[in-house]
Amino acid sequence: MNFAIVTLFPELVAQVGEHGVVGRAAERGIMSLGFENPRDYAEDAHRTVDDRPYGGGPGMVMKYEPAAAAIDAARERVPEGSPVVCLTPAGATFDQSVARRYAALPGLVLLAGRYEGIDERLIEAKVDEEISLGDYVLSGGEIAAMAVIDAVTRLLPGVLGDAESAEQDSFMDGLLDCPHYTRPESVAGRDVPAVLLSGDHAEIARWRYMQALGRSFERRPDLIDKLELDREQRALLDEYLEESGTDK
Ligand code: ADE
Repeated sequence: MNFAIVTLFPELVAQVGEHGVVGRAAERGIMSLGFENPRDYAEDAHRTVDDRPYGGGPGMVMKYEPAAAAIDAARERVPEGSPVVCLTPAGATFDQSVARRYAALPGLVLLAGRYEGIDERLIEAKVDEEISLGDYVLSGGEIAAMAVIDAVTRLLPGVLGDAESAEQDSFMDGLLDCPHYTRPESVAGRDVPAVLLSGDHAEIARWRYMQALGRSFERRPDLIDKLELDREQRALLDEYLEESGTDK
């Protein structure tokens, strides 16, 4: 999978490919990162990439020509059929299903805007999709692009170990993760839940699933609504609520 990122700060975005899971995927050639900087395509002496907004108001707007040229160059870096995605708070929300859709593509061009905005004509002419990380404003699309690259790369075949990828595909889908513990068994007066020390794998799996259901119910009821629990799941959730003393 080839990512081509259009950004005024390529050194910032490059860091996502230098560490951890994404770093290893890049080393092994499962994915690659390429960069185009609109500043390299600015034709005036000052290498101008932004200008004042028509109609007045604060801030600056990313100019059409240098960014358009950078997008065209970025498209040359990725296979046919790779969409151009603009990171913006005005986009549709990025979630795991979008990550899965992107992971099936041969590549992506990611446009990270800066300043107060991007000339709308650039979006109309060059962008296939607008994506937001969530309802808050970042200073630019770079950190959002890094999040997309990380979430998508994790889903590429061969990036995670078998056990980890099985977990991702498993029935835990659509729920928050269960809590995790490691040694020591007792710390700061708190003990590891006894079931995790039992060696009973079926019981451990059941407990983890119950915790995932319970936490999702308490913290993200919208996830539970979306799942439409069956009777078995409902019973497990009831057991969790009873044990934790929570009202239904
Ligand atoms: N750029 C600025 N804020 C953003 C957000 N919330 N998501 C994606 N790109 C952004």
